[in-house]
Amino acid sequence: MATIAQRKVTVVGAGYVGSTCAHLLSMKDLASEIVLIDVVEGRPQGIALDMNQSAAVEDFGGRVIGTNDPKDTAGSDIVIMTAGLPRKPGMSRSDLLETNAKIINTVADYVRHGSPDAHVIVVTNPLDSMVTLMRARTGFPGARVTGMAGVLDSARFSWFIAEATKANVQDVRAMVLGAHGDSMVPVPNYCTVNGVQLKDLVDKAKIEAMATRTKGGGAEIVNLLKTGSAYYAPASSSVAMAKAILNDEKRMLPCACFLNGQYGFEGIYMGVPAILGKDGVERIVEIPLDLDARAQMQKTAGAILADVQLLRDKRLM
Ligand code: LAC
Repeated sequence: MATIAQRKVTVVGAGYVGSTCAHLLSMKDLASEIVLIDVVEGRPQGIALDMNQSAAVEDFGGRVIGTNDPKDTAGSDIVIMTAGLPRKPGMSRSDLLETNAKIINTVADYVRHGSPDAHVIVVTNPLDSMVTLMRARTGFPGARVTGMAGVLDSARFSWFIAEATKANVQDVRAMVLGAHGDSMVPVPNYCTVNGVQLKDLVDKAKIEAMATRTKGGGAEIVNLLKTGSAYYAPASSSVAMAKAILNDEKRMLPCACFLNGQYGFEGIYMGVPAILGKDGVERIVEIPLDLDARAQMQKTAGAILADVQLLRDKRLM
């Protein structure tokens, strides 16, 4: 049996993203206790039992605990927040704002009381305003509350680049900044295939087409699935962030971070490259952006602020 650190990770929401997160956390031996909590009775318990019954076969040592009781989440090192309504075809992530804000507030309250030292990774959409709300409601420092988006959007871009260049995706590095919405900012200047600039491998029109497909990457899957949104890549991306924090990996990953003047923005969350380690966001990395990317960052900030203002108007924040 693999050795496993005494760590507790809570996954809030036993939908497809949440349960896939729990599965990845257990398979990767990232925690001794993985708590899967949901409001639906029976679902987290059933999923946990099923996963625990795979442990003998898969040879993992962590225990998955399915529960409806927030008390069971107390003392978590990390909380991955996935609960909330997913998008249906034709919906934007912002259409989910009001319903999901209420869920964030409920969860923030029990996390603040039960797990005051936890890191929180927010996955719930609309991502940028939900992570803003999570930080405001928990009162946690910005370094301990991050949003999962950039890793996912960059992974999607990476996949399209691998297909276009016929290269192995493991050699691809891609970067997507800004909001997790239609205004996200793919930055082709920072995309390479094993160090070779993307612009030296494919023509401009193709790069633009891939960037556009990346922006609509979530919607493309929603339209195919019809009854829900993507979950494998979102879960992998969330667990990569949790792993970087748990193992103090100092990975540089694009994620939604609380900005304190970086990129010219103050007091808002936005997707930027950050070093993730045991202290959460240990450093926000400022990269030089060309005029076009800077203009896109302004636009994406506007979209985020509009959602945050809506939260304030509806007295949800
Ligand atoms: C997506 C959802 C997770 O992009 O926002 O698929």
